[in-house]
Amino acid sequence: MTSKIAVLPGDGIGPEVIQEALKVLQRLSTVFKHDFHIEEGLAGGAALDVVGVPLPEETLKICRSSDAVLLGAVGGPKWDTNPSPLKPERALLGLRKELGLYANLRPAKIYSALLNASSLKKEIVRNVDLLVVRELTGGLYFGEPRGIERSHGQEVGVNTLRYSESEIDRIAVVAFEAARKRRKQVCSVDKANILETSQLWRKVVSAVGERYPDVPLTHMYVDNCAMQLVRNPAQFDVIVTENLFGDILSDEAAMLTGSIGMLPSASLGGNVAMYEPVHGSAPDIAGQGKANPIATIASVAMMLRYSFNLQAEADAVERSIESVLAAGLRTGDLYQTSSSETLLTTSAMGDALANAI
Ligand code: IPM
Ligand code: MG
Repeated sequence: MTSKIAVLPGDGIGPEVIQEALKVLQRLSTVFKHDFHIEEGLAGGAALDVVGVPLPEETLKICRSSDAVLLGAVGGPKWDTNPSPLKPERALLGLRKELGLYANLRPAKIYSALLNASSLKKEIVRNVDLLVVRELTGGLYFGEPRGIERSHGQEVGVNTLRYSESEIDRIAVVAFEAARKRRKQVCSVDKANILETSQLWRKVVSAVGERYPDVPLTHMYVDNCAMQLVRNPAQFDVIVTENLFGDILSDEAAMLTGSIGMLPSASLGGNVAMYEPVHGSAPDIAGQGKANPIATIASVAMMLRYSFNLQAEADAVERSIESVLAAGLRTGDLYQTSSSETLLTTSAMGDALANAI
């Protein structure tokens, strides 16, 4: 069988971590005799430099004709002063919108070998195993009107927070379905004490909850959730929330596990799903072999599971991550000098993971 993957390396450490993910795919095809057909496309700053737009039509075409998309990272100081439509980040927003990827799954699970790597106490992070289900194509990221206008002699910035019932319903369904395969708890996060969109959010999520009597639903205000994530993160199973809250809370959840360099993500909802590490392009360490490829390789595992239904292959990738960490192999983001750990480059970490499969 052949699976077609659109690969968008992007900017900064993107190409480096993608290269390691390709090593792992190569290894999987040898071990499991499954063919992966890779087609690369330009996205972000890499596309701006070559064709002048962050998301070329050609790239969208490659993505639409693939079975899944694997993305590295986009963005960097070189393009920071570009006007909004010409920022590398627009590639991500465009891909999410054009491919209809309204559901972003960001699991945060603590690896036992990394208990000491978290900035929080061991006792607090020990049992962390949560999933942030972030709405990805609505809210402030896409609401109209938006822009910077002049009014009464000064500039005024405007963004619009807007959610329809159907947008809330479908993301809630994703959360409840995911919870059924986990510990069967959904916590919906909003700001219903202030925002009307959140009041509607709460009403619709509760109505969906009635269709899932086996999955208890709780509601939490976003400020309290930010606090609970560092106070007692093990209380959470599935967190479902709107786009901007999910952006912020998923970075916070990522840090519980020791490094944002560990966390994968899947964006689902359309015909073609997209997989990418939660971290950004990290321009400060780009090109130095310091990046941690694990988040991208764990994203490959999610791709194998969700897009290709290759469960044994996904298990093999996840087990390789566990065994490599248990053996004390670390990239710089996780390495602690005082211990018996071995510091690896990005590429050596990719080799270790591929060899462990
Ligand atoms: C993320 C990132 C993006 C977002 C940026 C790069 C546009 O922070 O995927 O979380 O805000 O969604
Ligand atoms: Mg983010």
